This record gives sequence, structure tokens and C-alpha cells, in this order.
Amino acid sequence: MIKQVDTDHPIIPNYTGLILKKQKNLAVPANSIEVLVNKELVLSAEYVPQDLVVPNIPFSFTEDLPKRKMRQEAARAVEMLFTQAEHDGLQLTSVSAYRSYLRQQEIFTHNSKVRGETEANKVSARPGESEHQTGLAIDVSAPAVDYQLIEEFGETKEGRWLRENAHKYGFIIRYPKGKEETTGYQYEPWHIRYVGREAALVIAAKRLTLEEYTIT
Ligand code: DAL
Ligand code: ZN
Repeated sequence: MIKQVDTDHPIIPNYTGLILKKQKNLAVPANSIEVLVNKELVLSAEYVPQDLVVPNIPFSFTEDLPKRKMRQEAARAVEMLFTQAEHDGLQLTSVSAYRSYLRQQEIFTHNSKVRGETEANKVSARPGESEHQTGLAIDVSAPAVDYQLIEEFGETKEGRWLRENAHKYGFIIRYPKGKEETTGYQYEPWHIRYVGREAALVIAAKRLTLEEYTIT
């Protein structure tokens, strides 16, 4: 379990980055591997992880963009996950990892124009509310669904393998089917979040969301 910090009396001196919206006393430093970021627990616009690197995994695009990056520990873990997937004959492909606060703002503004803000927020996070800003989340897909981030990915062989194996490498399916009320987002079989092996094993075994794991 994460160490919970009383934000009025922070005990971690470099406590920074998280702005609490509603939930009190549930903050950990933004750079904690188990940090919970959602519609209640929000990252500051200034928060940028300091150890972003590009993992050596296949991407669905060729440009050298920030969305290739992940935090060091997550990058090493995702390389191991992809190595095993490839070994098992799968074509798991990375689509998008790190996003800055400003990039998330652009994406959410665009999605809101297309779908309206309420509908957009079921699939797209407001700036500060996206795990992609932590450098610990990555969206993955497969050629069978043309590298799209769509629910059908969950039924490809890559999507099924991911559901069964992600936890062994410290990742969780962050927005599972049937947990929309808890996470605040629709089912996203493509969005995996690095939480470390210890947390991922518990979350997978007990079928928890990160909210349930953190708060209960
Ligand atoms: N699609 C997830 C919720 C995000 O925008 O971070
Ligand atoms: Zn995502």
C-alpha cells in the first residue's frame, strides 16, 4: 500500500505536484510509482517526471516525439513485457506513452469540440487528470485493429495476452470493463499503467482498480 500523506502536514519534504480537489489525506508525491491520478487527484501543470527515457519497443509511428517516453523503471518493465509478447508470437505495438499537461489540454479541447465535454471526459482526461502525465502509462494496440485504441483491441490475441500477463511485469489494465463508476472512464483495454510488481499482483489477483487498491 502507498504511504498516505496528510497534506496539511506533509511528512515528505519534497512533496509537490499533486493538487487535491476533493479527497483529503490521500496524496503521495507525484513521482511515486503508485501515485493515483484521476478526476479527484490531479497533477499540477508544472509536474514533469525527471527520469523520462525512450523504451526500446515498437511504435505505431516513426517520429521522435515525447509520447515515446516513459519513466525509467516503467520503460525497463515495458521492454520486458514487449520482449515476452514478441516471444509468444504477438505484435503488441506502442501508440502513446508520456504526455505533458499542455499536450493533454490540446487533446481534451479537441475531443470536447468533437463530442461535447461530458462525452469526451468518459474517454479522455482533462489536463492534470491524465496518467499519461506521470510517464507511467502507455497505450498499446495491434495490427489486427490497425493500431487503433478501440474496445475491439481487447479481443485481439494481443489484447487477451495483455490482460493475462501485464501484472507479471508490474502493469495493470487501468480502466477495466465493469469498473466505469469507480475509475470514471469507459473500458480501455489498451491503457496499461505501471504500478510496480507488488501492487500489480495484488490488483490483478483481487480484481481491483487502482482507486480500490489505494483507498481501501
Ligand atoms: N484516456 C485516458 C483516460 C486519458 O486521457 O488519460
Ligand atoms: Zn491511455
